[in-house]
Amino acid sequence: MRALRLLLKPVILYHLLNMLVRSSSSSGRTEESIKSISQRFDLEIVFRLSLASKKLNGIACLEPCINLTDLDLSDNDITKIEGLGTLTELRRLNLSSNRIQKVENISELKKLESLKLQGNQISMSGLNISELCQLTALKALYFQNLDRTFPCPACSDKTYRNTILSKMPQLTNFDGERCPFSINYAAVSEEVRGFQLNPPPPRVVVIPDIEPWLKLESDDASSTSATTGTQELVTPEFVTKAEDVNKRLDNCHALAEVLREEISKCLSLLENQMPTPD
Ligand SMILES: *[C@@H]1O[C@H](CO)[C@@H](O)[C@H](O)[C@H]1NC(C)=O
Ligand SMILES: *[C@@H]1O[C@H](CO)[C@@H](O)[C@H](O)[C@H]1NC(C)=O
Ligand SMILES: *[C@@H]1O[C@H](CO)[C@@H](O)[C@H](O)[C@H]1NC(C)=O
Ligand SMILES: *[C@@H]1O[C@H](CO)[C@@H](O)[C@H](O)[C@H]1NC(C)=O
Repeated sequence: MRALRLLLKPVILYHLLNMLVRSSSSSGRTEESIKSISQRFDLEIVFRLSLASKKLNGIACLEPCINLTDLDLSDNDITKIEGLGTLTELRRLNLSSNRIQKVENISELKKLESLKLQGNQISMSGLNISELCQLTALKALYFQNLDRTFPCPACSDKTYRNTILSKMPQLTNFDGERCPFSINYAAVSEEVRGFQLNPPPPRVVVIPDIEPWLKLESDDASSTSATTGTQELVTPEFVTKAEDVNKRLDNCHALAEVLREEISKCLSLLENQMPTPD
């Protein structure tokens, strides 16, 4: 038994579990299958488990899989999130396309990074933001797909987006979109305030020394005093210097343009994405 256990790599166990689960269709028998396996093998070494499209109507018997990091329960008939409390190592949970009506019993999943709930029956009242807020490691959250397919009813509420974005600053991916709040607006506005209160001294700009040029002019003037005129000032050195200065000016203009664009981008982000206070 011990040798067998050692030989059973997680991936083999994963396939074994899937085979057994696939062989039964009703959820009762599926639970039994998992249970019987859990008695025979050490479920602690299962890391990834897919129970997608198994016609499951509940989540059960996953408690022993304490080291699970990836769980796919998508495309079933699950009505309630429960029985996941022991899976504290879980990083990715896919519950898309089920019949779930509210977010509950997931606050223990402190390492959860990705939660997919698109294609469920979750309305605004079922969102339970305070429960979601306890998922401090959460980076990706879906209640609909990026292309707006498989929406939960909550997605059509006009407060949906701002509610989630303002209450969950830890998100970087919301319904497949990069979160504007993954920029830390509190920190940015703090910085702006600090800047206004205590503006830094103006940057020292090194102005090219014009002395040699003037000298060049007077030298030229003295050496070619007979045929004095502006044309004589255009010596090869002058042309080289002028080209150099022009090049630097171009660079300054380009830099100023980039900065202008960045500033207007930041300003419009700040204007458009700040949560409306209410
Ligand atoms: C599974 O989890 C237990 C308890 O946290 C731990 O002692 C064990 O090392 C883990 N097993 C593997 C294979 O990571
Ligand atoms: C999650 O479920 C959706 C819908 O069934 C599926 O398309 C997707 O591949 C799943 N993602 C993962 C990471 O399992
Ligand atoms: C799930 O959460 C509900 C509250 O939303 C609670 O009444 C219930 O006991 C929880 N179930 C489990 C298994 O933790
Ligand atoms: C939301 O979740 C919290 C626990 O995280 C619970 O105490 C509260 O009762 C839930 N609210 C609703 C409306 O289900």
